[in-house]
Amino acid sequence: MFISLEGLEACGKSTQVEMLVSRLKVEVEVYREPGGTGVGEAVRHLLLHAKEGEGMSAEAELLLYTASRAQIVREKILPALKAGKWVICDRYLDSTVAYQGAARKLAMAAVKTINGFAVGGVMPDKTFILDVLPKTSRARVLARSGQLDRIEREDLSFYERVRDGYLALAKEEPGRCILIDGEGDIASIHQKIWQALENTIKAIG
Ligand code: TMP
Repeated sequence: MFISLEGLEACGKSTQVEMLVSRLKVEVEVYREPGGTGVGEAVRHLLLHAKEGEGMSAEAELLLYTASRAQIVREKILPALKAGKWVICDRYLDSTVAYQGAARKLAMAAVKTINGFAVGGVMPDKTFILDVLPKTSRARVLARSGQLDRIEREDLSFYERVRDGYLALAKEEPGRCILIDGEGDIASIHQKIWQALENTIKAIG
């Protein structure tokens, strides 16, 4: 099984990944994007924190996120899946559709083609989109300590478009993408994810 979790900043993905891993009785590898490999962590630094990343064009941003993804697919995800392990990704290709496609307004057809090239057909079996309002996300981000990264410095309208991108994805791919109300309590969000996974396992036998 390959599972990805998606959503706005501080939507609760990481907490849900931890809860899922501690309940699963299978061997599971957990990755986050961008990052998870030497190449990916260097790219993450450039994308989010480096001074050199500040004037980055939207097109370069798209290619850097997908470069990090191309590396983690070949170096980590594919070998783990081939070895029969489960993989859980904190963000995957849908982040690029929502952030670079919907929010940065890059041509969606190009975003999807480049995403497809990067992942080489390695798609999640299930994707959970934790839906929170942009203002909830913003309040949680501001309550954290530390500096805002390059994406977190975007305004609320950017995050409205990211959310719209995710909502559109959930409509386009209802079989894979499951929209979950991320404003609810942590335990009931976990239960919804767990239930959906049990149903998927039953369906595939
Ligand atoms: P995070 O891992 O702490 O959530 O930070 C990753 C940031 O990068 C977050 O703001 C979402 C953004 N992002 C994109 O814009 N496009 C992508 O393809 C991915 C994976 C992340």
